[in-house]
Amino acid sequence: MPQTDLTLESLRSLCPSEHHSLLAHWDVLDASQRAGLAEQISQIDFEAIRREFGSQESSEQQFCDSSPLASLAEAPEAVRLSERTPELLAQAIQEGSRAIAAGQVAMVLVAGGQGTRLGFDQPKGMYSIGPVSGRTLFQMHVDSLRGAMKKFGVSIPLLVMTGPSTDRPTREYFAKHANLGLDDQELMIFEQGTMPAIDAKTGRILMESTSSIALSPDGHGGIVRALTKTGWFERAEQRGITHLFYAQVDNPLVRACDPLLIGLHRLAKSQATTQVVEKRFATEKVGNVVKLQGKTQIIEYSDLPEQLAKQTNSDGSLKLWAGNIAVHVFDVDFLQRCGQSSQALPFHRAHKAVRYVDEFGNTHVPEKPNAIKLERFVFDLLPAASKSLVVESLATESFAPVKNAIGSASDTPETCKAALVNLHRGWLRNAGVRVDDGCSVEIHPMWAWDEQEVRARIQQPASLHSDTFFT
Ligand code: UD1
Repeated sequence: MPQTDLTLESLRSLCPSEHHSLLAHWDVLDASQRAGLAEQISQIDFEAIRREFGSQESSEQQFCDSSPLASLAEAPEAVRLSERTPELLAQAIQEGSRAIAAGQVAMVLVAGGQGTRLGFDQPKGMYSIGPVSGRTLFQMHVDSLRGAMKKFGVSIPLLVMTGPSTDRPTREYFAKHANLGLDDQELMIFEQGTMPAIDAKTGRILMESTSSIALSPDGHGGIVRALTKTGWFERAEQRGITHLFYAQVDNPLVRACDPLLIGLHRLAKSQATTQVVEKRFATEKVGNVVKLQGKTQIIEYSDLPEQLAKQTNSDGSLKLWAGNIAVHVFDVDFLQRCGQSSQALPFHRAHKAVRYVDEFGNTHVPEKPNAIKLERFVFDLLPAASKSLVVESLATESFAPVKNAIGSASDTPETCKAALVNLHRGWLRNAGVRVDDGCSVEIHPMWAWDEQEVRARIQQPASLHSDTFFT
């Protein structure tokens, strides 16, 4: 633990007076509790909290004011599937492949969330999802990345962002499984930061116990601050890494470092590019990628009023059609600049019921939301970019997230496995293999990374009658 000055006076000077209640129990804490609390206090960005809750007016105001503005949202300008001419595809794939092969790309997987909806008490990345192989989400992503390394003949660093509850088990998991086949220097696991829960009435930071602050992960937008703290940007610059390919651990359909997306990003000279799919229905629970006040932005489904989500064009198609699948490409120098400003990303507020201990030592277990948790979202970097790009992809090729527990209505392990089987079955059939309908197939990316490689592998017509893992 870093050394923090432990005198009460020094901590009082670090904390603005409205938060001195954090030290209410100092006298009864032992040395290690004092050290822990001092360390937590030293990590708090009091300035950011003051900006958010500085006045009663601002603490009453709901952040991310997309709702009032949302009525102005329009469809984003995007590279639609229909615009992908064979020439553009070839040019973009060549451009992206060149950058990957030149070692200019790294990949980051965000895995700091708690995965509560899935009902799995370990990091979501450790969830078994391979329809035939049983490989975990982490393994699926790493294998896809290793497939890319093989295809492009280059080492590609993988960054895995964890959170307070996933950090230790994630590190142990990778260590126990020999980094899932990655070299030590290809893997960096780093932990995102936290933000304290704020009392919604008083604007004060809440204590979880007499010696510990009520903290929660600072959202996936915390990646910018966390990467800055690790010194990764300087190392990336030395290594000539100019692009960061970003994906969420919950979507194993992502093609690691997709050369088409990276190529389109480079050709457009974009600083921040996002891949979208056409929403299946108006109120699908995905972020809406829109153009608002001249900028590409994402409005969460929960912030978009239903009547706006349901607006249609004259042909009946959805006006706000573009769903966020959380696959992005960022220029590394753009991210680095954002990391130098504590205000590059706004906070979003979530009202939650947070158990706390007051300054008299009494524990409160509220039934209704009493606190505000602050989170940053990485996609708020899109409007901050001088040039951004939106690229449409087919959901069947790029998006099958695991969000909800088995048996739920959508985005479950079953729907994800079915999507993986469908995609791989399609590749095999297109390559001339007869696959029985009821037969599950799964292709390891080191065996074939894409449909083209499957075609190259299948030399003669074949038939499949039982579940098969091509490895
Ligand atoms: C997210 C997007 C939504 C998008 C959908 C696609 C947000 C706010 N919304 O929704 O627009 O359509 O994914 O699947 O992101 N994570 C961290 N640290 C955190 C919080 C989250 O690393 O502090 C990671 C999680 O591990 C997960 C990802 O971010 O990999 C998404 O988080 P989650 O809360 O599951 O987002 P969704 O509500 O599903």
